[in-house]
Amino acid sequence: MSADLEAIVSAALTAFSEAGNLEEFKNARLAHAGDKSPIALANRELASLAASEKSERGKVINEAKSRIAQGAAAREALLVEERDLRVLVEEKVDVTLPLDRRSPGGIHPLTSLREDISDLFIGMGYEVAEGPEIEAEWLNFDALNIPADHPARTMQDTFFIEPISAGLVLRTHTSPVQIRTMLERTPPIYVICPGRTFRSDELDATHTPVFNQVEGLVIDRGITMANLKGTLDHFATAMFGEGILTRLRPSFFPFTEPSAEVDIRCFVCRGENTIDADSCRTCRGEGWIEWGGCGMVNPKVLQACGVDQNEYSGFAFGMGLERTLMFRHGITDMRDIVEGDIRFTQHYGAGR
Ligand code: PHE
Repeated sequence: MSADLEAIVSAALTAFSEAGNLEEFKNARLAHAGDKSPIALANRELASLAASEKSERGKVINEAKSRIAQGAAAREALLVEERDLRVLVEEKVDVTLPLDRRSPGGIHPLTSLREDISDLFIGMGYEVAEGPEIEAEWLNFDALNIPADHPARTMQDTFFIEPISAGLVLRTHTSPVQIRTMLERTPPIYVICPGRTFRSDELDATHTPVFNQVEGLVIDRGITMANLKGTLDHFATAMFGEGILTRLRPSFFPFTEPSAEVDIRCFVCRGENTIDADSCRTCRGEGWIEWGGCGMVNPKVLQACGVDQNEYSGFAFGMGLERTLMFRHGITDMRDIVEGDIRFTQHYGAGR
């Protein structure tokens, strides 16, 4: 082989062997075996040779080309093998490592219930009103016609904020938001107030010291108990399904007059096991279960809030959200709602 071809071949082989990885090798192959490589140029020059020289020169060029091609193939195979070995080591996956078990979480069922109730009332033209959880004693009690010596104050076991002289409590119900709303707005008023409330109860199957209520308040001209009953029936149907029966049972709240408890048909026995207290554990044979309180806003409360009782009347109601959730889903232990077990949350909160 002529010296020039020998030089071309050995330059190519050197470049291949110096290529340390596939990337470098690709460049070396382009330079020494590509269209513009010395060997390709030499091949192209054949065309200008006389026929007699052509075949001899052609033969050696082909020989040189095939040595370059073989050299390239051998080097590439080696580099591929090296790369594969390296990848196996570098990208090794330890299948014994623990999984990332963090779950994406879900909306707490109380939160979604609260949102559903807000949506329902917003759909009827209500607004959502809010108030602080640490509340002035005056707003939580006095303005609601519950003076200091009134037995109703002890009915609701209250958390007082120190110092006692500051007159602050953790609100025992959402009713102070009624007062705040009437003081801040002028009628007509259509609001609901969902929020956290506090009473010093022990946590058990039916009580929790921190719970949620939703309060409703309407003040307008010509409002009667019929409006209240219609609103509650609509609310109950949205919560418990078409055909749910409600009942107003006379009761007492200082801030409403007349007052009533709102009962719904027992969701377990549907009022069919009313023989005695043992016949249905949920309603104790009553056929009805208590859902919340309601009534026509007491004129004394309207007066305390500067609402003209000759022009306006109104109704208010208050329901426990935990109880509502329990009735809706047949949850028998309130602790399940507050304990924050992710399985509970996912079961009721997922899919929204
Ligand atoms: N605030 C009352 C309670 O917590 C419920 C209620 C609200 C009753 C509005 C009547 C009207 O017991």
